[in-house]
Amino acid sequence: MYRLHSHCRACGYARKASPDYIKKEGSVEKLMEILDLGIQPLANDFKKYTDEHAGYAPLKLLMCPRCGLAQLSVVVEPAILYKDYPYVTSRSATMENHFSMLLHAIRLETQPLNCIEIGSNDGHFLEFCQNHNVLKVFGIDPAENLATAANESMIRTVVGEFNKRTAEVAMSNIPCPDLVVARHVFCHINEWNLFMVDLERLASEERFLAVIEVPYALDMIANGSFDQVYHEHLSYLHVGAMAHLLEHTPFKIQRVEHFPIHGGSIAIMIRRKDWPHPPHESVQRCIQREESIQGKWLEFAAKSSALMCSLESQVINAKQLGKSVCGYGASAKSTVFLNACGFKRKDIQFICDSTKQKQGRLSPGSDIPIVDEGALLRELPDYAVIFAHNFASEIIQKNERYVELGGKWIVPVPECKVLP
Ligand code: TYD
Ligand code: ZN
Repeated sequence: MYRLHSHCRACGYARKASPDYIKKEGSVEKLMEILDLGIQPLANDFKKYTDEHAGYAPLKLLMCPRCGLAQLSVVVEPAILYKDYPYVTSRSATMENHFSMLLHAIRLETQPLNCIEIGSNDGHFLEFCQNHNVLKVFGIDPAENLATAANESMIRTVVGEFNKRTAEVAMSNIPCPDLVVARHVFCHINEWNLFMVDLERLASEERFLAVIEVPYALDMIANGSFDQVYHEHLSYLHVGAMAHLLEHTPFKIQRVEHFPIHGGSIAIMIRRKDWPHPPHESVQRCIQREESIQGKWLEFAAKSSALMCSLESQVINAKQLGKSVCGYGASAKSTVFLNACGFKRKDIQFICDSTKQKQGRLSPGSDIPIVDEGALLRELPDYAVIFAHNFASEIIQKNERYVELGGKWIVPVPECKVLP
């Protein structure tokens, strides 16, 4: 089901083939362990009661002492991880607003006429681009159900991982792409060097721009959001690690833009090394902020345990007072939080979620049922824990009635808060 991972994907530290694998007798290069969440279910393995579950795998975070890249200690077989994948890009106002900011940031670098998206999901972002003067778009996504949905809404999409074949299919539609976007997929990829080789196939134009959007390691550390650590996220990226990776490629980092989406993300804009303009000052600014990231990762583990303890005591206290508690947002993050805290159905009765594919299923490991959002007002639990805390303000705003009727929110990250 999974393989062990023990070398750095960005700088190659501890890669057995590397000549400095054994520095001197008796001292072997090794990634450092920073967080161990135990054996956990796959975070998106939302199954019906009678379905077969995918199983459990270790969930442990290691760090490269050389470049500071945090990465999981295992790589779960993608065919198991992404089979029957329920994740659909949120059609929320928060996401729409993000797309608009992202496209604006891209236009500070280039005025794209066409765009290929890697990991295009159901085509939501490409549709947005098309409605905002990007003339031609094409998507690549491994989930057949999502690619079909995209094709049905006229966003041409090829089914498959990003590789030589899908890159060629994309290029038969858009021969010289001037923009390639990969939103929240790069950290799911094991073989970064292969990704760069395939990206190079698309980069024939001198003005080529690739935009890789990932959750930003520094934000994750600042928020202590350990709930972003799950089997799909193989790496937790910062700009310095990307710079290491690009050293042996034809690419360089040109600009970095920071966004609040998903608890803090960065869009790393990549140009060919022969692009005549010097990198934007944002690149150096980030790298400076990331100085001593190794020490910050070590503090992250302590902050994570504090957040788990706070939520645990909130829920246990509420239950002791005879109050009812539900969850809101059956995000992958919710699975990590629930299992890390050891919550079961007796602690949290149900989780509301707008995603039709998740409703009627159980949260992996805890077996808490997932229901529609309307259950919040129908059941009116005393407390609702917002596990999709990256959408907290939107969720609170659209459920004002819940508070009017006496309900209270618990927002577990970046500090466990009870509202109002
Ligand atoms: P998200 O944070 O996008 O992803 P991840 O699974 O990577 O942690 O998950 C948000 C979940 O919250 C998703 O299942 C949809 C749900 N949701 C609602 O139910 N209602 C809402 O108003 C919003 C914004 C999200
Ligand atoms: Zn490294």
